[in-house]
Amino acid sequence: MILNLINNAIDAMEKSGGTITIGTKVSTIEKNHLVISIEDNGPGIPKDNLNRIFDPFFTTKAVGKGTGLGLSICYGIIQKMGGKIDVYSQVGVGTKFRIWIPFQDEIIENQDNENELDNE
Ligand SMILES: Nc1ncnc2c1ncn2[C@@H]1O[C@H](COP(=O)(O)OP(=O)(O)O)[C@@H](O)[C@H]1O
Ligand SMILES: [Mg+2]
Repeated sequence: MILNLINNAIDAMEKSGGTITIGTKVSTIEKNHLVISIEDNGPGIPKDNLNRIFDPFFTTKAVGKGTGLGLSICYGIIQKMGGKIDVYSQVGVGTKFRIWIPFQDEIIENQDNENELDNE
């Protein structure tokens, strides 16, 4: 998922150049969610396209360059994980994708269980 988003940012800034900023944090809004953000200062996504970019086969890239499947696959994966993906974009300013991944408090407990099994 992350590679997909980075590759899209690289494609978008192919001509202009620019900066990709990657962030990770524990969400302060959604309880027990990790937030990973991939941000670029490329050309941005026009409003008309914004609600189509997660559709399978939607691409603005040349034939042979884009399949239009990257974001739809990302969307499917994160849905299955019980998380979500969203996007903020402004033409001429850039684009920011955020992935919200749920995690469980019990993770530490499970690790303890694994250690117990190892000792047996
Ligand atoms: N960071 C971005 N900046 C500008 N446009 C983007 C960005 N990420 C995605 N897009 C737009 O969303 C479309 C769909 O992306 P994706 O599903 O990954 O398919 P593909 O990369 O094969 O075109 C892209 O063709 C592009 O128009
Ligand atoms: Mg792509």
